[in-house]
Amino acid sequence: MKFKHLAILSALLLLMGIFMAACGSETETDAGEADTENEAEAPASEAPAEGKKPLEIFSWWTGAGEEAGLLALIELFEEKHPDVEVINAAVAGGAGTNAQAVLASRMQGDDPPGTFQIHGGAALNTGWAAAGKMEPLNDLYEEQGWYDKFPEDLIELVTSDGDIYSVPVNIHRSNVLWYNVAIFEEHGLTPPTTFDEFFAVAEALQEAGVTPLALGDREPWTASHLLESVMLGKLGAEKYNQLWTGELKFDSLEFTDVMETFSQMLDYVNDDHAARNWQDASQMVANGDAAMNVMGDWAAGYFATDLNLEPNKDFGWVAPPGTEGMFMVVTDTFGLPKGVEDPEVVKDFLRVLGSVEGQDVFNPLKGSIPARVDADVSKYNEYGQQTIEEFKKSTLTPSLAHNSAAPAGFVQQFNQAVNIFVSSRNVDQFIQTVQAAQDEHINQ
Ligand code: BGC
Repeated sequence: MKFKHLAILSALLLLMGIFMAACGSETETDAGEADTENEAEAPASEAPAEGKKPLEIFSWWTGAGEEAGLLALIELFEEKHPDVEVINAAVAGGAGTNAQAVLASRMQGDDPPGTFQIHGGAALNTGWAAAGKMEPLNDLYEEQGWYDKFPEDLIELVTSDGDIYSVPVNIHRSNVLWYNVAIFEEHGLTPPTTFDEFFAVAEALQEAGVTPLALGDREPWTASHLLESVMLGKLGAEKYNQLWTGELKFDSLEFTDVMETFSQMLDYVNDDHAARNWQDASQMVANGDAAMNVMGDWAAGYFATDLNLEPNKDFGWVAPPGTEGMFMVVTDTFGLPKGVEDPEVVKDFLRVLGSVEGQDVFNPLKGSIPARVDADVSKYNEYGQQTIEEFKKSTLTPSLAHNSAAPAGFVQQFNQAVNIFVSSRNVDQFIQTVQAAQDEHINQ
């Protein structure tokens, strides 16, 4: 069981974390000079046309290739169910920065949307599932013959105490280093696969006047996102996983080494990182304003779907240093909350989302690979096809930054500490803070 550590995480602490997030929901600041599409207001919820049954779909997909995937899926669903009108209740903000807080207050107020985006792993299992707020979907899996259509490890990520609580629409990879092909060619450089190579390449680029690494940490999760790849690359999958069971401490020598490496990498990021969001940073690589960026493969959706860039021509990718053969999993899933008005309509949507057709309409636009094992590979671009193959042979690990590895209360404290670290570079202080968070949320 590759993800067995996820099962022991505490529901109560997660809910406290989510509640705190809801109370302290972030206020956006002005910034981000490039594409701020993802910061747009959520589409207004409208009443459905007369005679139509409403279905409210809640997510944080409002731009940058993300919305295109969602809209294609909604279109397919409405074609198949003309008696239903979807209300797209997306809330802007990368990685659910704002959406998760809005969702928490709705769930706590017994006003759940018809269905909502939630990451497989800790977010679902020790969160809303453990709180008794979700309906089990075992019957739906049986009816649709899904048990052998999704990888076992993935079903495990959406299972708690033997019950399945959601349907994965995709698999995203968190550990990807994107690079601008033209910049690397022009400077005669090879994309780095080890930390030594990374620093040599970054130094050469810096000397040539090119920003080596793009970062956009206006929403703090993006710095944690970069750091989780450094953790995986330095520690390896086994030790990385031990952080979430408490077997490896943050105040260990191994983790000090991680933080020193991370700090050194931060010497090569753009000066205006705190003013940018994730797609603003990805756009720097697309435009040739920076050479590299570490981001999940929703960036592939942004590059190919929104910016019309060609894989392996305009943008390239490798696993970030030291993570070759490892796949940090982020899976977007949807379930059936308890107390919704029309559970059958929600199930109809889940049937479409879990079908080959549904997955193949959504994922090629989104940059993710299908969660199903029998999707039509020919529908995916070079990046997607390669990733489908790599998923099958990689060692899988859950993403911390995307709430799959540890309780929300821990992730929140970790993000805050990383945010401070990016400017302070104080390794001892960071380690002290996250060790306390591990003691509080994980080592019980
Ligand atoms: C989600 C992706 C999304 C990304 C940026 C991740 O947490 O899993 O679907 O594209 O955040 O918003």
